[in-house]
Amino acid sequence: MSPNTPAPSARVTVNVDGTRYVDTVEARTLLVQYLRDNVGKTGTVVGCDTSNCGACTVLMGTADEIGHSVKSCSVLAVQADGQSVTTVEGLAGPDGSLHAVQRAFHEMHGLQCGFCTPGMIMATVDLLQDNPDPSDEEIRDGLSGNLCRCTGYQNIVRAATCTAR
Ligand code: FES
Ligand code: FES
Repeated sequence: MSPNTPAPSARVTVNVDGTRYVDTVEARTLLVQYLRDNVGKTGTVVGCDTSNCGACTVLMGTADEIGHSVKSCSVLAVQADGQSVTTVEGLAGPDGSLHAVQRAFHEMHGLQCGFCTPGMIMATVDLLQDNPDPSDEEIRDGLSGNLCRCTGYQNIVRAATCTAR
């Protein structure tokens, strides 16, 4: 492709946090870029861009379900066409009340700098919907795709545990 050839683009319709968005994106646009740059959901962050850290984790599924966690830096925006995506900004109730997992991270001090927190929270929501009463080991295993440089993980596990019980 010559440098002057426009990049291929596609039209996508994505439901993000309960609102329908219709956009034209370049075929190479990552879902995390789409969420941040087109939709303005900057709560979803990029920690590595290489599918390692999990900071960009969101839930993706069909319109009828909350979906399962995906690393949005490893998904193309076009792959989210017709899907529903939930970001950390979509977890709170309509009155602004925190989701139980958000509240537990706050109360159990499950964060320090907070950079990993959106992804940790989304991965925890996914973990608990599959396994509502996980052991510490299952929590650590379930969150093993999410890296935290600050907390030592202890309070993150406590937050997930206290949400579950
Ligand atoms: Fe690190 Fe996506 S930004 S896994
Ligand atoms: Fe700083 Fe997890 S709280 S990276």
